[in-house]
Amino acid sequence: MPEVELDEVQEEAKKDVISTGHGEIDKKLGGGIPIGSLTLVEGQSDAGKSVLCQQMIWGSLKDDFKVVLFTTENTVKSLVTQMDSLGLSITDYLLLGRIKIYTMRPSLVRSNAAVALQSILNTIEDLQDFDLPIMDSITQIAAGATGGECLAYFERCKTLCDRGKTIINVAHTYAFEQDLLVRIRSVCDAHFKLAIERVGDRLVKTLEVAKVRGATQTTGNILSFDVEPEIGMKIMPLSRAKV
Ligand SMILES: Nc1ncnc2c1ncn2[C@@H]1O[C@H](COP(=O)(O)OP(=O)(O)OP(=O)(O)O)[C@@H](O)[C@H]1O
Ligand SMILES: [Mg+2]
Repeated sequence: MPEVELDEVQEEAKKDVISTGHGEIDKKLGGGIPIGSLTLVEGQSDAGKSVLCQQMIWGSLKDDFKVVLFTTENTVKSLVTQMDSLGLSITDYLLLGRIKIYTMRPSLVRSNAAVALQSILNTIEDLQDFDLPIMDSITQIAAGATGGECLAYFERCKTLCDRGKTIINVAHTYAFEQDLLVRIRSVCDAHFKLAIERVGDRLVKTLEVAKVRGATQTTGNILSFDVEPEIGMKIMPLSRAKV
């Protein structure tokens, strides 16, 4: 009797990068953030740090990753509404328990900074099957913590990344003294700098890809973008932005 060859049915492999769900932006980020990276998203107020994270949250959930967000900036309701406004609905994922959101009161975490840092790390460790922890933002905690405590937090994050987590920390540029920022940057595998620049009589948001260790493609260095209702981040050609 002829032998019948059976194909092994395999689950579709998970991606090995965190994507924004937006091909053009991923390309500029060198293909996406490699799994196991520690990322710093740094920039001035209103530059688009949270929107960039929201794109990554949405892209990751679509790719079957589980996300945990620590936020000092939103309630669950305001986050859902904000993401809805960008066409990035997370309601279904929330109901399915694929994203957990921890809201942190700025005044509380500032006056109990060391405890707050520790409880973030403990939560990340406890939620073993949650791949992508995001802290938006670390600024308030940093204001109440010593430089040593901040650096130790990033080092602990790095250890968790070595064990497979992909962690994103968001900070306002003024959150850290210059030399502390340099030391934190060197612990991180990826570093994105966001800013608002004046081009002629227009204000343009820019995203500088300062580094992505282990990127699969060449990183795009700098891109300019706008945030649009129903669309989210929209890349603008730099040449057109400069007109
Ligand atoms: N649905 C939307 N439609 C249009 N613009 C939006 C929408 N949602 C957000 N924006 C704009 O995107 C910009 C970036 O906002 P974002 O909250 O990401 O900045 P941020 O860098 O996190 O600021 P902060 O330092 O205050 O936390 C803001 O100018 C905001 O008004
Ligand atoms: Mg923000």
